[in-house]
Amino acid sequence: MLVTGGAGFIGSHLVERLLGGGESVVVIDDFSTGRRENLAGVEANPRLRVIEAAVSAHPDLETLVAESSFVFHLAAAVGVELVLDAPIHTIETNLRETEAVLGAAVARRTPVLITSTSEVYGRSDKPWFAEEDDLVIGPPSASRWSYACSKLLDEFLALAFFRERGVPVTVARLFNIVGPRQSGQFGMVLPRFIEAARQGGPIRVFGDGTQTRCFCHVRDCIEALMRLRACGAARGEVVNIGHDDEISMMGLAELVRQTVGKPVEIERVPYQIAYRAGFQDMPRRRPDVRKLERLVGFRPSAGIAEVVRLVTSGL
Ligand SMILES: NC(=O)c1ccc[n+]([C@@H]2O[C@H](COP(=O)([O-])OP(=O)(O)OC[C@H]3O[C@@H](n4cnc5c(N)ncnc54)[C@H](O)[C@@H]3O)[C@@H](O)[C@H]2O)c1
Repeated sequence: MLVTGGAGFIGSHLVERLLGGGESVVVIDDFSTGRRENLAGVEANPRLRVIEAAVSAHPDLETLVAESSFVFHLAAAVGVELVLDAPIHTIETNLRETEAVLGAAVARRTPVLITSTSEVYGRSDKPWFAEEDDLVIGPPSASRWSYACSKLLDEFLALAFFRERGVPVTVARLFNIVGPRQSGQFGMVLPRFIEAARQGGPIRVFGDGTQTRCFCHVRDCIEALMRLRACGAARGEVVNIGHDDEISMMGLAELVRQTVGKPVEIERVPYQIAYRAGFQDMPRRRPDVRKLERLVGFRPSAGIAEVVRLVTSGL
């Protein structure tokens, strides 16, 4: 198995699961947002090899891919704040690394799963987002959309490699995955809220707090990824992975406050202060997970209260 971005939040859980199943794993990670500590629990495993490099800069990428029976491509520039601060880096990384992986997979038609994002649904106002929906991306003057567009182009590229070059590719669109090792440093909301509550507050809710999101525990996400790997019918397909239990950001702050058990303040912070003028957010973002269920017979099980309880307990 080759896992790009395997020292990141989701990647490290995937690597643990693969090693736990007796597989041999090569990780390529440049440690830009990933950390060595994320792999601390498995670093002594002789079936794990960790290569510190940017994916496209590795001189033997083709060989590494050719020697793998499957590639999970997770390496990407991730996180709203990172994307706002470094749009060139985001666009270049997300395009270049995916192109490199897909190009290397052609020789042996190595199966690849690439992780895309619910961000690609953009400003769609549909109550549920399904894979065949039209996508409503904001204008290029709002740089937060550079992440969505770069990931969307990855999707187009992946499906083009499937059709034109016969690379068996699956695209997984992930919706707010949470769990241990996720860093709040790059703007991820749940770890940020929990940390704020533990530190005595305030929990800072951006915007008016009525915007809703759905959260999926990383364990459920990994189960879905593993099942998609084994699913021939998912090749050439885009598949949502997420939980459809919806909560507003004010509701989430309240739930975190109760779960952490400290009487901290909850403070609303206007977007233009939290981010910058003209920041665009979506009122809601809820996955339709029927395709996932139809393909692999699984849908994420941990609802929002369970997810917050698990993450607050470090699980
Ligand atoms: N966490 C979520 O909720 C979420 C939601 C949607 C999509 N995703 C996607 O899932 C994947 C993993 O995200 P994550 O949340 O674990 O983030 P993460 O930042 O923890 O993981 C990304 C990993 O990729 C590595 N990386 C970045 N650029 C690289 C490069 N050029 N070469 C090699 N390694 C590189 C980073 O060091 C990091 O270890 C990403 O593709 C992301 O777009 C995540």
